[in-house]
Amino acid sequence: MTWDSLYRTNQQVWGDKPSELATFACNYLQGIKPPSKAIDILDLGCGYGRDAMYLARNIKCQVFGIDDSSEAIEMAQKSLADDLKLCVKFQCGDFRQMNNGKFDIVFTSNVYHLLKSDDRNAFRNTIDKNVKPGGMLFFSTLSLSDPEHFGKGKRIENEDNSFEDKVFIHFCTREEMERDFSFLTIKELFEYEFYESRSNGEIHHHILWMFMGVKRQDL
Ligand SMILES: C[S@@+](CC[C@H](N)C(=O)[O-])C[C@H]1O[C@@H](n2cnc3c(N)ncnc32)[C@H](O)[C@@H]1O
Repeated sequence: MTWDSLYRTNQQVWGDKPSELATFACNYLQGIKPPSKAIDILDLGCGYGRDAMYLARNIKCQVFGIDDSSEAIEMAQKSLADDLKLCVKFQCGDFRQMNNGKFDIVFTSNVYHLLKSDDRNAFRNTIDKNVKPGGMLFFSTLSLSDPEHFGKGKRIENEDNSFEDKVFIHFCTREEMERDFSFLTIKELFEYEFYESRSNGEIHHHILWMFMGVKRQDL
């Protein structure tokens, strides 16, 4: 099933509440000294925009969301309230099209585990190119401990901790994240367990990594 057909069939598949990462990011940002001007946030793989809109409602910011599902972007644009239209923008496109933007924050929830090795490298490059030195990354991805999907389906050869059941999923270890995100200083990295209600009535049990890092200024 493609993302377009998933969104067409299930509409707001994870509901209209923010993701676990958006709640974490919002609490974190509300707990630090407020910036003098609105911060720029890039939401990579923003889906139908639930997190972009939540961040814009709760933090003094402008959010740019990009997703390559036209169905998701159409849903995001339709549900964008009038008072958010100046500070939230959505674009349909591949994350690779993001070229050297200088964002205060890159935010990306539940996208990385869907990517194969080359795409994960490209994704990290996109993050590196788009977050300012001293800027932050808020990131979530499935852990090896995920009870819903880990070990299900066909193990992918030459790809550690990756399986293909209905879709390809890569599961991260702490060591892998520390190694592959060394352009950031890790401030928070912890596993988070939750039950996710879906619009089709299913409930999924997940454990994911929640990660917050600050772009190193010495590289
Ligand atoms: C599991 S969904 C998460 C959506 C959103 N972050 C959320 O939590 O509501 C993953 C999203 O990544 C998007 N995606 C996958 N590959 C992409 C790519 N190469 N460029 C942009 N978006 C991509 C998909 O279209 C999908 O909307």
